[in-house]
Amino acid sequence: MATGSLVCLDDFEKYAFGKLDRNALDYYRSGANDEQSLRDNRAAFGRYRFRPRFLQKDVSKRDLSTRIQGQPVDFPVGIAPTALQRMAHPDGEVATGRAAAAMKTCMVLSTMATSSIEEVAQASPEGLRWFQICIYRDREVTKELVRRAERSGYKALVLTVDTPMFGRRLADTRNKFTLPPHLRMANFKQADYKSDGVKGRKGSGQSKFAASLLNPSLKWTDVRWLKQFTKLPIIVKGILTGEDAVEAVRTGVDGIVVSNHGARQLDGVPATIDVLPEVVRAVNGQCEVYLDGGVRTGTDVLKALALGAKAVFIGRPALYGLAYDGEAGVKTILQILRDELSLAMALAGCASLSDINSSLVVHQSYYLH
Ligand code: FNR
Repeated sequence: MATGSLVCLDDFEKYAFGKLDRNALDYYRSGANDEQSLRDNRAAFGRYRFRPRFLQKDVSKRDLSTRIQGQPVDFPVGIAPTALQRMAHPDGEVATGRAAAAMKTCMVLSTMATSSIEEVAQASPEGLRWFQICIYRDREVTKELVRRAERSGYKALVLTVDTPMFGRRLADTRNKFTLPPHLRMANFKQADYKSDGVKGRKGSGQSKFAASLLNPSLKWTDVRWLKQFTKLPIIVKGILTGEDAVEAVRTGVDGIVVSNHGARQLDGVPATIDVLPEVVRAVNGQCEVYLDGGVRTGTDVLKALALGAKAVFIGRPALYGLAYDGEAGVKTILQILRDELSLAMALAGCASLSDINSSLVVHQSYYLH
């Protein structure tokens, strides 16, 4: 790890804050409105405490491997879909895909990527890749994206359900956020959308672009529409209540990501780690449950696993790793989380992921009486 003084994910964040230009940094960093949920995603992890057990297991070796949607990964931390990664590094999503493949974990490619479905697949053919979509206004555009993902060997669809409209990110509006002219929305042909690309002459250009694609009239029946024309597993991303988790299971989805979109949609929603137990209870083992939002340390990962997540995903930290050093930077981010999780497991008395359960963690309020 040739990272000098950068030893944890927060160090990479600080580095990226000093390196990225305002247009890109604000786009990556921001949450919606007052950013209450953005702060809470991270703060909430600090409200859980471990109850480590000693001398029960030999922890000299730890096995972090698991399967997600039946596919093996070396450790339970994947990369969440984030748009426009070539603003962070010229290799963008291609570098992220390579880093995830090298670390034998999963990368979720965003539809709003600056590298195409095919480019990323060709650059990391052996990697586990999932593809993130929404059901767009134009069903033919949606179908074609799904077909391209299938042809390119993506192993699941991650259907984002928290974005009927684009959240309000004040910094992007102020900056009149614009995709730099040398970059493109690589998964779309110009004819597929009506706006003139991502140009922010009046407000955020990304927000206008998204508005031309997104369909706020979607219902659960539309998820059934998606299910009937693809054999890929469908994982719904953005669930924040037990009620919606039950609806998702009833619709026959294969997985759920407890997510608040990195706090970029509805400000005021709870931190994802606080919602996780409710969703896990409601799902009752009927599909895999994952979490993203504010995961920055190995102990955050351990807490999420203890509260019932099968795996977690990181969004912004991968962007900051990219900004630092492209593929090598993202690999280092993943390596740090892997090492931190491994150590935290040893210190908590866990030799494998199956040793991690809900008795390992309590909410801080438990100790306040
Ligand atoms: C996102 N996220 C996201 N989600 C999605 O379904 N499709 C997308 O295109 C994007 N794009 C995107 C861009 C940027 C810059 C960010 C920060 C986030 C949300 C993402 O998948 C994930 O839910 C959060 O990023 C997780 O929170 P952390 O790890 O960033 O705190």
